[in-house]
Amino acid sequence: MSIPKSTREYRSQGDGYKNLKLQVSRLNQPKATEVLLKVHAVSLQYRDLMVSKGGYSRQKKNIVPCSDMAGEIIAVGQDVQNYKVGDRVCPNFALDHIHGDPTQETQATGLGGAIDGVLTEYINVPAHSLVLVPEHLSYEEASTLPCAALTAYNALMGPVPLKGGDYVLVLGTGGVSIFALQLAVVSGATVIATSSSDEKLKIASKLGAKHVINYNKTPDWDDEVLKITDGRGVDHVIEVGGPGTIGKCAKATKYAGYINVIGFVAQGSEGIDIRSTIRKALVFRGILIGSVKQFEDMNRLIKAHQIHPVVDKVFSFEQATDAYAYLESQKHVGKVVISVSKN
Ligand SMILES: NC(=O)c1ccc[n+]([C@@H]2O[C@H](COP(=O)([O-])OP(=O)(O)OC[C@H]3O[C@@H](n4cnc5c(N)ncnc54)[C@H](OP(=O)(O)O)[C@@H]3O)[C@@H](O)[C@H]2O)c1
Repeated sequence: MSIPKSTREYRSQGDGYKNLKLQVSRLNQPKATEVLLKVHAVSLQYRDLMVSKGGYSRQKKNIVPCSDMAGEIIAVGQDVQNYKVGDRVCPNFALDHIHGDPTQETQATGLGGAIDGVLTEYINVPAHSLVLVPEHLSYEEASTLPCAALTAYNALMGPVPLKGGDYVLVLGTGGVSIFALQLAVVSGATVIATSSSDEKLKIASKLGAKHVINYNKTPDWDDEVLKITDGRGVDHVIEVGGPGTIGKCAKATKYAGYINVIGFVAQGSEGIDIRSTIRKALVFRGILIGSVKQFEDMNRLIKAHQIHPVVDKVFSFEQATDAYAYLESQKHVGKVVISVSKN
């Protein structure tokens, strides 16, 4: 394949996804330690909606949005040893978060937030940011792994990793929660899933959730979780709701259980009861996606159990703003994907 000299890319001024601009830009050749990727598919995150509104902390101006992609290496820099042309890969969300804890420096390499992202036909990335795509996954499926899947994996496999027989509570049926459901089920946990919709809960049940609760029909869903667990509470919570759900999650968690603090899709101001937090020795753990090392570990689990990510809908590159609108509507279960290249 001849090396392209330009790329079609979207740029955002932070004035809403409807104003995303498709333009042609010059493409540099990969530096010595970089690879040039042909982007096959990009998946959207809740975060991309925030970036599109200019509402993300320390966001680059006039940014190429989106963090998550899968693609093919079409050129390698002269010092790259581990990868070759033709390899199917994903770059990590934070390019320089290779292993260990995140730092201010690794955070400054977050695609589609601090630096330009992946909603483009071609991109140069450092070889150290890459992981190989599991063979059983399509590019569209693999594009969902870097943020949503890795966040769920990091939450569940943290300092006190999930054990078979543990209870896991997942809130809603968005990208992070559905991956947490799938990863927890194959690891032997019993999953309790909540959602606004009975139809979505049917999908959660099919994916292996043993117990499901419609949080609109059962506003005291924390009591229901306690009933299901015989009053004990769950071992792990995938807390994507934030201010609107965290108080109920604390009530539904067992003594010394983990509340993995991930997002803030639910409005409200419940707050946390400090006394009962202390009395129950609860662990609140902030999650910031994950490292390349964790990504490799996660892919082994995905490969071992032949997990297929739940892709709700695929849009074409030209329909990118429709994909954003669909994500915003919250009609989806799992992930919304943009197919950038058909071949
Ligand atoms: N910390 C990190 O590293 C990290 C990484 C990824 C994402 N996040 C954050 O995690 C959150 C979820 O991200 P995502 O990409 O998975 O979002 P998403 O795919 O857009 O999912 C949103 C889903 O949340 C559910 N929801 C909305 N209100 C709810 C409520 N009151 N209670 C329970 N569920 C509710 C809805 O599902 P139902 O209709 O089924 O209820 C909705 O479809 C966002 O805040 C995002 O910024 C953080």
